[in-house]
Amino acid sequence: MTELLFRGATVYTPDGPGEFDVTVSDGVITSVGPRGSGRGKAVDVSGNWLLPGGIDVHVHSRDPGFPDKEDFGTLTAAAAAGGVTTVVDMPNTVPAVDSAGALESKAALARSRSRVDFGLWALIRSSSTAEQLVELASAGAVGFKAYLGYSFSVSRKQVLHALGASDPDLEAPPDYGTLTRLAPAIAELGLPLVIHAEDPGILHAFRRPFETYEDVLEARPAEAESVAISATASVARQHDIHLHIAHVSSALGLQAAEEAIAAGTRLTLETCPQYLWRTEADFARLGTAMKMNPPVRRASDQQALRDALRREVISVVATDHAPHTDDEKAQDLEHAPPGTPGVQTLYLSCLELARHMGDPWLAARWVSEGPAALAGLSESKGRIAPGYDADLVVVDPTQSTTFSPKAMRSRQKHGALQGLKVSFAITSVYLRGVPIYANGRLSTRSTGRMVRPAGVPIA
Ligand code: NCD
Ligand code: ZN
Repeated sequence: MTELLFRGATVYTPDGPGEFDVTVSDGVITSVGPRGSGRGKAVDVSGNWLLPGGIDVHVHSRDPGFPDKEDFGTLTAAAAAGGVTTVVDMPNTVPAVDSAGALESKAALARSRSRVDFGLWALIRSSSTAEQLVELASAGAVGFKAYLGYSFSVSRKQVLHALGASDPDLEAPPDYGTLTRLAPAIAELGLPLVIHAEDPGILHAFRRPFETYEDVLEARPAEAESVAISATASVARQHDIHLHIAHVSSALGLQAAEEAIAAGTRLTLETCPQYLWRTEADFARLGTAMKMNPPVRRASDQQALRDALRREVISVVATDHAPHTDDEKAQDLEHAPPGTPGVQTLYLSCLELARHMGDPWLAARWVSEGPAALAGLSESKGRIAPGYDADLVVVDPTQSTTFSPKAMRSRQKHGALQGLKVSFAITSVYLRGVPIYANGRLSTRSTGRMVRPAGVPIA
């Protein structure tokens, strides 16, 4: 049995920060007590902060499917270097995760390469059946994701960034009908339903070629987000489903979500660092690194999102880590694929934002505690407390970090946050008590395990 004693740090606990000893035995936190109270092999983290490992509930590993863009090895190298000890991967890999078999093969692949723990979201297609959802849940899915407005190529088993077309290979996107039909099964399973909230009818009405960034904003108006949120919330409320809105990007979307919450919907909200740190004004400098769905909008949207975090209406910050190759992203605005890497800069960018808001410790709630609750992991992850996994991030609050492409471990080096300077640095990272990153170096071992939501019976 390995007993570790982390001593000297300011520790963020569920009751707030304090000067504590933290002991770990066999990967689990055994005590958080006054200085000098703990026993074990000492890890001196004096002068640093000890935070719960980040949980990024919105990443796209591209694995299996697009090894040129990313795989579980490069994704989780970036995660480990950024203090993210659990990633929850989106189901739009190829083949898409629309069946228990696809989920199990993806889990096997992830286990062989992952440096951090991982969970898997399952895909809802317009043709999905209640039985398939039950099987996906027993295979370990954390919940279900519906891409409103994204078609599905049946021959390629791939979610496409395309509204429905007449091509017979394309299955129609899941819509409000699909969700209403599957709602009783989702309610019965008790798992969250996540939506990519852009209403296809509105996107269709505003389609246009992209010459300027203004075209992007006009093509994907905030009404697309608010309408999708209101409509889905109405279904979720009727069936008492936990609805989670991925990557909220607009003040209008936020308003729709708050109205739904006031009406009694069990609804949680996620936003991403790119919407909190960037506005349309940054496009001139960042170019297509900033192209993503939904788009980064105006300063007033950014203000509304920051304010909602402060009011704890938004409980999750995740990254929508969606890498492509730098070559693909070097195409013009019309052709460059949407998405930006982000997992490596999640924790630090949130610490910096929280510091601006006057309480840097809030970051641990946004990237660890809130996400753990969403993914059904509140009993094992997201807190520094006895009985929890020893997923620990050691942060030096006296060092700064500037996000630069050359430091990125993802395949795509250029991202929406590049150039941002934050007044913190990550010193080391532990996954269930094992050091996976220290002083700029990753450990060579892959140690990630699959996480499953508590309370779902294993098949
Ligand atoms: C994502 C991707 O590339 O997988 N892209 C994006 O712009 N966000 C898809 C998605 O999350 O909607
Ligand atoms: Zn996404």
